[in-house]
Amino acid sequence: MPSIRSVQRLLSIASFCLGVLQAQSPVSGAGSLDSGEEIYRETCLACHGAGGSGMSQHAVGFSTPLPDFTDCNFASREPSGDWVAVVHDGGPVRAFSAVMPAFGEALRVEQMELVVEYVREFCRTRRGRAAS
Ligand code: HEC
Repeated sequence: MPSIRSVQRLLSIASFCLGVLQAQSPVSGAGSLDSGEEIYRETCLACHGAGGSGMSQHAVGFSTPLPDFTDCNFASREPSGDWVAVVHDGGPVRAFSAVMPAFGEALRVEQMELVVEYVREFCRTRRGRAAS
């Protein structure tokens, strides 16, 4: 018989893992968010980071490198339609890692377009700052 204490410990580990999973999967109720920034904060920031250059491997817990959306050299070559497709269907639709989740169920197409527009701002903002 496991002791109550070890059962309690297991339960707290299980609920911790659940919290991590929830942080990484599309948030339920995201369908009601209506600005690119809100959608990004709720559904993308945990991996892609507040500034768009990606969270550290340590923070996300996986080793697939995250793209740097502030790098205009890379970001401005990617058509928005391709990015919407990646957001809709997940990384594998464009031969990226499945770590990039599919949001086709969680977000409406208009929301994906809004959030991709928001992601584009990371490069524009950086350029704006560099110029000033
Ligand atoms: C669980 C972590 C995670 C979440 C949440 C996440 N992404 Fe990603 N995303 C990734 C990873 C990892 C990659 C890189 C995959 C690769 O390079 O194989 C990626 C790649 C992408 C790309 C492709 C960039 C390129 O190289 O062309 C886009 C666009 C993107 N994500 C947008 C988003 C948006 C928008 C959201 C929120 C709606 C989001 N991601 C949420 C992990 C995540």
